[in-house]
Amino acid sequence: MAEPVKAQSLSELRTRKSVKWRQFPADVLPLPVAEMDFPIAESIKDALRDMINRSDTGYLGPFPEMFEAFSDFSHSRWNWQVDVSQMRIATDVGVGTVEVIRTLINPGEKVMLNSPVYDNMWRWVAEVKATLIDVPLLENNLEHKLDLAGIEREYQSGVKVHILCHPHNPVGAIFDLESLKTLAELAKKYQVQIISDEIHGPLVYQTKDFTPFLAVSEAAREVGITVTSASKGFNLAGLKCALIITDSPMLKEKINSMPISVAFRASLFGAVAATTAFNHAGEWLNGVVAALDENRNLINKLIQSQLPGIKYRIPDFGYLAWLDLSGLGLGEDPTKTIFERGKLALNSGSMYGPKHKGFARLNFGTSPEIITEAFNRISKSL
Ligand SMILES: Cc1ncc(COP(=O)(O)O)c(C=O)c1O
Repeated sequence: MAEPVKAQSLSELRTRKSVKWRQFPADVLPLPVAEMDFPIAESIKDALRDMINRSDTGYLGPFPEMFEAFSDFSHSRWNWQVDVSQMRIATDVGVGTVEVIRTLINPGEKVMLNSPVYDNMWRWVAEVKATLIDVPLLENNLEHKLDLAGIEREYQSGVKVHILCHPHNPVGAIFDLESLKTLAELAKKYQVQIISDEIHGPLVYQTKDFTPFLAVSEAAREVGITVTSASKGFNLAGLKCALIITDSPMLKEKINSMPISVAFRASLFGAVAATTAFNHAGEWLNGVVAALDENRNLINKLIQSQLPGIKYRIPDFGYLAWLDLSGLGLGEDPTKTIFERGKLALNSGSMYGPKHKGFARLNFGTSPEIITEAFNRISKSL
């Protein structure tokens, strides 16, 4: 196990200019927004400093070394060798997904999501003027899986694109290989394209549990397009650079028909940082995952000792805790009460799905001290 990376102190964090640290008054502890509170990897700092020192601050052009770096990274982490000729650059995962959908459908056609799901995905569907089809995840005691029967029914009714959140934010689940294989067969049968958003993939706790969609099966390679980046795993969201990956020649042709500005609007800093991350920050990533592993278990302990009314399933990846707060007696949307009384900002469950007002998403990509303080603030709100 790698040495856990230590998060920055609260006073250092409060000097950050990112949205997480700017959005709320100084007395509020901010735990929404998927940014981490760890210092970024030294190798990435050095690469960015080197660019600044040489005033290398122009536009991003061809960047094959990033494709090679991701291909090596994905091979060593998940045994998935990506063909570099099948990779393209996008500004970020949001822009990449939106632009891919634009090449695949006409306005009004159907795009599927599985709620509760990353809030911006709802906005992406609206942005491309598609008709949204939600097939909620099946849930049992906070264990989540895909509703394959419901998905097949909707595929049959003419869904064109399915945005798969893999692994799934906010519920913390990794879908098992058998479900993914069945999903790919269904998509092939009904001619649905699956966009697999794998931005959280680098943060899975057990790499063997995660199969990138394009590594699932022949059918998955025929229907799948992966959109991913180094931005969650290595905390580089502000640097703006993502990857679009296909395997089928037909989908490659579609992706090649996208406007060249999709790649041009990404940032040179993002490409350099991502390349360095994939090539040289693997040990740092292991240290972050080790820190997050301690944090996800700390949350369990704090809930058991302090707030047993909260329901929580220890997540399979990353730094997002999906908390059922409906048993706390804090009203319809407990995050509002916690914000007002406890000065703790959490994401309300209502952002992720219509039936999840009683839930909250808590970002634990931070120090044990801040997590402990967050739970004290929830306790104080009761
Ligand atoms: C599943 C998922 N996709 C995409 C994003 C955003 O990615 P980007 O900033 O590259 O658009 C997030 C951010 O939290 C996310 O959780």
